Amino acid sequence: MTTTPISSNAVSDVTIKKLDAPLGAQVKGVDFAKPIGGELKEVLIRAWTKHLILVFKNQLHITQEQHIGATKIFGQPVPGASRSYFEAANIKSNLLSQHEEIIMVTNMGPDGKPAMENASLGSGEVVWHSDNSYIDEPPIGSFLRSLLLPKDGGNTSFSNQYLAYETLPADVKSKIKGAYTKQDASRNSAGKLRPGLEAPTCLEEVPGPNHPLVRRHPISKKSALYLGRRRDFPSQYIVDWKQQASEKMLDFLWSHATQSRFKYTHIWELGDMILWDNRCTMHYRDPINSDQLRVMHRTQMQREKPICA
Ligand code: SIN
Repeated sequence: MTTTPISSNAVSDVTIKKLDAPLGAQVKGVDFAKPIGGELKEVLIRAWTKHLILVFKNQLHITQEQHIGATKIFGQPVPGASRSYFEAANIKSNLLSQHEEIIMVTNMGPDGKPAMENASLGSGEVVWHSDNSYIDEPPIGSFLRSLLLPKDGGNTSFSNQYLAYETLPADVKSKIKGAYTKQDASRNSAGKLRPGLEAPTCLEEVPGPNHPLVRRHPISKKSALYLGRRRDFPSQYIVDWKQQASEKMLDFLWSHATQSRFKYTHIWELGDMILWDNRCTMHYRDPINSDQLRVMHRTQMQREKPICA
């Protein structure tokens, strides 16, 4: 059940409670439709660094402009990288919102009805990934708000990649120190080829930047595994490693990093908003019943070149 908050955004009314999980906290007493003072902004920024994801409830009533305004607390809003592929291929879609900072994440088809596949992430599984890892300077964070939810499916899980790195065996840490991976840009996180791109047939054809496999967070100064996303071969690989060694290491790192001991799963309610840090977390979405509509708005903030730990 959702209710409209009666918060005045006074710092003394705001509570931040750690979730019973390896990452995340729930923030109560904030209403993004009302002004947020400098002191509260500081509190929220510190909480984000500490907990990696923040869950805000009851934000269904806010406007798209207020969503963009809330994003500005944490960094300058930027358009989603996938939008540029649609613009380059001159594709018009009902999923391109009038604000370039708002990304529609939905299973809505061109006729407004739910669909298995569409120009967004469709109804299928959305594999583990960190947003826009396939561009040179990925957004530092993302802020997702639920507007319409299906009865079945569509839960989102988040994984703490500081913990994933800290719990690696010492010999693995030393082998991957200073290593970079090619971040495959050819497909989205639902596995669909991006408009205008072709599936690579060999490693040399995989498009995308090289990013450090272990990333230093510029604020917390901690190291996190930065895996990005992985599809079937030929896809992501460790630069300058032999193909077999790279595949073996990536298989190991992916199965390590996606264990449930590092994970929190969010079961959405209408108006929930989740802020996550793309520098130290990954996320995954369950499939959705393709007869039911799910509509979410996502913003992203400020781009940053990953720093090698
Ligand atoms: C995303 O990968 O950003 C979308 C997650 C979701 O739809 O829950």
